[in-house]
Amino acid sequence: MSFPKRILTALGSLGLAVAGPAATAQPVQMTVQAGDPKLQISRHIYGHFAEHLGRCIYGGFWVDKDSKAPQQGRIRMDVVEALRKIKVPNLRWPGGCFADTYHWHDGVGPSAQRPKMLNMWWGNTLEDNSFGTHEFLELCSLLGTEPYLAANVGSGTVQEMAGWMEYLNANDDTPLVLERRRNGHPEPYKVSWWGIGNESWGCGGNMTAEYYTDVYKRYATFAHNYPASPPLKKIVSGANGDDPNWTETCMKRIPLGQMWGLTLHQYTLPTGNWTGSKGSATNFDETQYFSTLRNCLRMEAIVSKHAAIMDKYDKDKKVALLVDEWGVWTDVEPGTNPGFLYQQNSLRDALVAGTTLNIFNNHCDRVRGANLAQAVNVLQAVILTDKDRMLLTPTYHVFDLYQVHQDAQYLPLQFSSPDYAFGSEKIPALNASASKDKSGAVHISLVNLDPHKAIALETALAGISWKTVTGRVLTSAKINDYNTFDKPNAVKLASFTGAKKRGDKLAVELPPKSVVMLELR
Ligand code: AHR
Repeated sequence: MSFPKRILTALGSLGLAVAGPAATAQPVQMTVQAGDPKLQISRHIYGHFAEHLGRCIYGGFWVDKDSKAPQQGRIRMDVVEALRKIKVPNLRWPGGCFADTYHWHDGVGPSAQRPKMLNMWWGNTLEDNSFGTHEFLELCSLLGTEPYLAANVGSGTVQEMAGWMEYLNANDDTPLVLERRRNGHPEPYKVSWWGIGNESWGCGGNMTAEYYTDVYKRYATFAHNYPASPPLKKIVSGANGDDPNWTETCMKRIPLGQMWGLTLHQYTLPTGNWTGSKGSATNFDETQYFSTLRNCLRMEAIVSKHAAIMDKYDKDKKVALLVDEWGVWTDVEPGTNPGFLYQQNSLRDALVAGTTLNIFNNHCDRVRGANLAQAVNVLQAVILTDKDRMLLTPTYHVFDLYQVHQDAQYLPLQFSSPDYAFGSEKIPALNASASKDKSGAVHISLVNLDPHKAIALETALAGISWKTVTGRVLTSAKINDYNTFDKPNAVKLASFTGAKKRGDKLAVELPPKSVVMLELR
């Protein structure tokens, strides 16, 4: 498939690739523009997701008391330490599809007395509710992250959701507040991010958009602010992929004052098939490498489409678009429980992560939050665990590189990308985004999707003075290289020496299949 001209032009204006001549010895000309000093890349674009699914919570964040993994209470501290290093701005919980079956009150109080439930979505496992609200908020406090709760709309009640909010955010002597205090937390937790339902078009209740918007308004009416806590950020359960009707209906029927954010879920499947094989996480050739990247680049058109609909109803861009589930979704690792969605993570996934985060950065006027699915042991995880062992995936390293963009001033880029051609199809080989942090340092994140050709770049920086350039790079010998528990550093970051100051321009030689972060001071 080649990209229609219309989309390519949009990509270019957003700092992404515009189809141009094939790569030659002539360097790609890039300009870093000054941009609008008030436009920031929200740190919340770098959010993560923790669902009661497979080994994300149990074995990932929360371990048995007799586990040899370092723990505080039962929270797994090696995982916490690793996530602290990449600065997790928000963590979404408890789902996902699980959220619309979850009854929060079963997960508070003395652990031994908590009722058990069957996790009907994910493998029918027996959920013992030992990891509940207090444990999740303790985890968030250890991570230094904003909790993002998803309320049960599909099988819960308005009263149940309103009670959860009162339990967490009120501070008068109501029965729920007294219960919270008895359960060990005298002060309100002050949770402000609230998703009202999840995938209400699917596992969250199979609703029509019209019906959901009525339900949303009813729930939102009873989602109260309490004087002891900041106002709630109420989040509408949004569209599946490129479904414009869902976004249009939500924007048309829900008053702007009743929503802080609207979500979007968009996954990248290597084959593009939900029904047959999605493709292997590690055992793939260039055909599937190419189709994965082509599918991942659809995020640009999808975000643009939803943003344009939102613009019609919300010219001032008050409502945030939150892509609160995204990532690569492959077949599960052979021999593992199909309901657990455990998959490995290769250099290809890192290129998907770098590309997707560049797309979000370049749409930071509307995209003000996103959550990679999922943090540990599920789908495009940044961390995998095996009993007391843990490894960082290639995707983790991209989040490590890109953390410099968090809350930095957005700098637009202009350039024409060379093509990465495969068979009869082509995609833009190069994508990028840039920002300036509070200290004045400029960061440029560059992704070369072409597995064979390096890209030479010559970059001018409008109105930015700088003296030095340093960088780090993530690449590997093969597109499907990945880290294992025996070789946890097979794919790792290295310092990058391919960028030089040439006059007042920046010259870069970007290796094939690589993600590079440059810092100019
Ligand atoms: O992330 C796995 C699942 O994907 C989530 O539970 C659901 O919201 C989505 O369909």
